[in-house]
Order: sequence, then structure tokens, then C-alpha cells
Amino acid sequence: MPDIAFVKPALPRNGVLVLPMTEGDPPAGLAQEADGATGGLLVRALEAAGFKGRKGQATTLHALGDWTKVVALGLGKAAELKPEAAEAAGGSLVPAISGDREVTVAADTLDPQLAASLGFGALLRAWRFDRYRTTEKEEDKPKLERLAIANANATAAKTAFGPLRAVADGVFLTRELVSEPPNVLDPAEFAERCRGLERLGVEVEVLGPKEMKRLGFGALLGVAQGSAKEPRMVVMQWKGAPKGKKQKPLALIGKGVTFDTGGISIKPSAGMEDMKWDMAGAGAVVGAMAALAGRKAKADVVGLVGLVENMPSGTAQRPGDVVKTYSGQTVEVINTDAEGRLVLADVMWYCQERFDPRAMVDLATLTGAIIIALGNEHAGLFSNDEELAHRIIAAGVSVGEKCWRMPLGDAYDKQIKSDIADMKNVGGRPGGSITAAQFLQRFTNGKPWAHLDIAGTAWSSKDQPTVPKGATAFGVRLLDRLVAEMAEEG
Ligand code: BES
Ligand code: MN
Ligand code: ZN
Repeated sequence: MPDIAFVKPALPRNGVLVLPMTEGDPPAGLAQEADGATGGLLVRALEAAGFKGRKGQATTLHALGDWTKVVALGLGKAAELKPEAAEAAGGSLVPAISGDREVTVAADTLDPQLAASLGFGALLRAWRFDRYRTTEKEEDKPKLERLAIANANATAAKTAFGPLRAVADGVFLTRELVSEPPNVLDPAEFAERCRGLERLGVEVEVLGPKEMKRLGFGALLGVAQGSAKEPRMVVMQWKGAPKGKKQKPLALIGKGVTFDTGGISIKPSAGMEDMKWDMAGAGAVVGAMAALAGRKAKADVVGLVGLVENMPSGTAQRPGDVVKTYSGQTVEVINTDAEGRLVLADVMWYCQERFDPRAMVDLATLTGAIIIALGNEHAGLFSNDEELAHRIIAAGVSVGEKCWRMPLGDAYDKQIKSDIADMKNVGGRPGGSITAAQFLQRFTNGKPWAHLDIAGTAWSSKDQPTVPKGATAFGVRLLDRLVAEMAEEG
């Protein structure tokens, strides 16, 4: 990861120079100085290259004046210059400079908060998972080591960057967990990595099969029983609310299926490798906890993840089995591939019983149906609480993790009635994401709750400005923002 530094404005006389510029405006500050140093050649060259300053535009000029390379970076219209635009510009810059070791960004005239956002965007885009590459040629590797962002108020920019750096670390932790292959990241290994948060001041408890059996987690254990890998549940607590301002915690809950074969209701083999990221909900919860602790959020937050592997075997659960959940409600397992809701049922009931949270938010790669409904642009949002739903939508908009509200209702709930148990785990094809949410709602005990179905947003098949293709860490930034808005205000 490149180091992001904030420095006093001074025009470098060599190396790689980045000039952020707004659309339709002449260069100002250091950029103007740079143009002067080239006798006006810079502006002429950019004009000839079609550089307009549009958001995300990055135009590279080689061997200009004293510099080996000058990159003009479009920020869009000055009047619309918000943190999101600066972030996107920072992200779009990365492909243009990834072969350079040291780069200076002349962001001297930018508001320090925007300079910080630009650095944040670049950092988010520069992340890469290369743990398992051993033969990549030196010239193909990204080289960026240091991005020096020059700003008139470098101190303020650095201060603004502090919490963003913590959030980026949370995002990276999640992307790493989600990217890891399923032979490496099994439930026990996932739990071990959660333990790493103790270093940040998070209290971490790990429950194994014995403890969960004693508690009566029949639904989670039913999913786990076909696998040679032991399940885990991890409880993470961040107690950041100021003394005397203790609050009911916000609870974050994640589906952590480290691999989902479907079990006996086995999935087709094409694309099954994608099911390594069926733990992205749990991954986002861990990353969010890391972000909150890393920036010392003034809030009490608990994070719980249910970790299992869903495998077919001689010990696997069968379609037709009836399991008893921790809540006492029984479930007829019609389809062993609808396993995420079974895992969440026990974790959610445990969470509300133990913590009596202000609100519970679960994240899960729960249904393929949500991809049919919303594609890869929005996560599906389900909630029994209007205010919570609106806060989640707003938080998502402000960090670029969009959610679309979906309905709940009794008519959908009827679809999961069972003839022999309290409910069945699938409700047929119509409204598949909704009936899954109805199932979860039965384990909220009526407490404020929201469910994010992130099956369509957890993994990206294409590069985005601040998200390289692959694991997106969808939810980390949203949850961080939600906590800031709901529990840290005032
Ligand atoms: N993990 C899957 C959902 C999923 C699908 C996530 C595609 C990411 C991409 C989930 O456990 C599942 O298998 N759901 C079934 C439910 C069905 C059996 C009712 C599905 O969506 O097909
Ligand atoms: Mn499944
Ligand atoms: Zn699954």
C-alpha cells in the first residue's frame, strides 16, 4: 500500500507531477506555476490531448518540462466539488501512476478535507490482493510507494485523513477476508483473524461447536454438520461511548459461510468458486468493527458473525430435516442451499437476547434472487423500522454504497409456512429475497432490525474508481457512517 503524505505546497522540479483541475477553469496555484515553467506548453498540450477536467479524467503527458510525467486529473465542476468527487478522482488517478514509485499531487488550492478525500480514494483503489502471486514479473508489479499530496493547509488535511485511514484499513481487512481462498479461510481461521482486532481494543469472544451445542444453536449447527471444518461464532465488542453516556449498543451481524456448495441440495459446478465469498457479510462486519476501533468511534457497537462451511457428505443435513433453532422455533429444511438464513437465525436471536441492541443490522450474501431484482448496483434493504431504513439509505448514498428498500409483509410470510414445523427455510421462487428476509424477521423478537442482502454488491467483475475488481467490502463504509450518524452525534 502506498504511503499517503500531506506536504506543504512546493513545485517539484522532477519526477511525476499530478495536477488536479476543475472543469472549465484555468490552472491555479502550483498548476499555474507549472504551466508558467513550461512557457504555456502544459495548457496547450492538455488542450490538444482533449483534457477537459471532467470528473475522473486522467490525461498523461510524458517528458514535459522538468518532469518525466505530468498527469492532469479531472475533478469535475468546481461548484459540485464534494468529497465523493475528490475520492473518485483520487481513485481514477491510480491506474495512471501505478508504475511510478513517488508521485506528487499539486492539491494546494483544494480544501484540506477534499485533499484528504483524494488521498483516501487513491488508497482504496491502490489495494491489491497479491498474497498468492509468486511469478509476476517485476515490471508488471505496481510500484507506487508514496503519494505526496501538497496542500496549503497540510496539517488540516492530515488530520482529516486520520479517520479515513482507519476506515481504509477496515475496508482492506474485509477485502482480504473475502478474497482468501476457501481452503485457507475456514471458520476457525476466520475467527483467528477476528482475534486480530484485540490489538485495536475490541473485545473478542470465540464460541466453538461445544458452546453452541450447549446453547442450542440447532439451525447453525445443522448447516455445519456436513463439513469437516468446525463452525465458530465470534462476538466482538467495541465500547467507545464516553463514560456517563453509555448507550444500548448498535449490533452488526454477518453471514459467514466460508464456502457454500449448497450442501445436499448441491449447486451446479459452473461458477461455484464464487461461493468462497459467501462470507462477505461477516467480512464487512469485521472490517466495520476494525474501522470503528481504528478511528476510536465514540459509540458502543457489537459485531457478531456466524461462521460455517456448507458441504455435502454422509453427515450433512438432508432436505426434510427439522431443526430446532436457539429461539425455540423449529424449521423444516426444504433446501440445504438456503443455509445463510439458518445461520443468521441463531446468531440474531442470541444477539437480541444478550445485548438488547438499539438496532440490529445484518449483512448477508443471502439470495441469488436479489441479483435478479437489483443487479449489482444496489443492495437489497429490508427493515421493520422506518427510521433505521432511512438512515441506512442515507448513509449508503453518502459513501457510495447504495441500498434499495424492498417490502416485507404477512402475505410473503405465509410462503414459509410448513406443514410439520413452525416454518420452512424456503418460500418458493416468487419473491425469493423477500421470503428470505421474512424468515430472518422471525428471529428479531420484534426489535428494530434491518437486513442488507449483499449478494449482488459484495464482488465486482469490473474496476470502479475506488474499488478494484473483486472483493468490494460493501457495507464497511456504510456501517461506519451509520454508526457516526446514529450513535456518535451530539
Ligand atoms: N449464498 C447463496 C446466495 C448467493 C448467490 C450469493 C449468488 C452470491 C451469489 C445462498 O446461500 C443461496 O444459495 N441461496 C439460494 C436460496 C434458494 C435455495 C432458496 C439461491 O439464491 O438460489
Ligand atoms: Mn446457499
Ligand atoms: Zn450461501
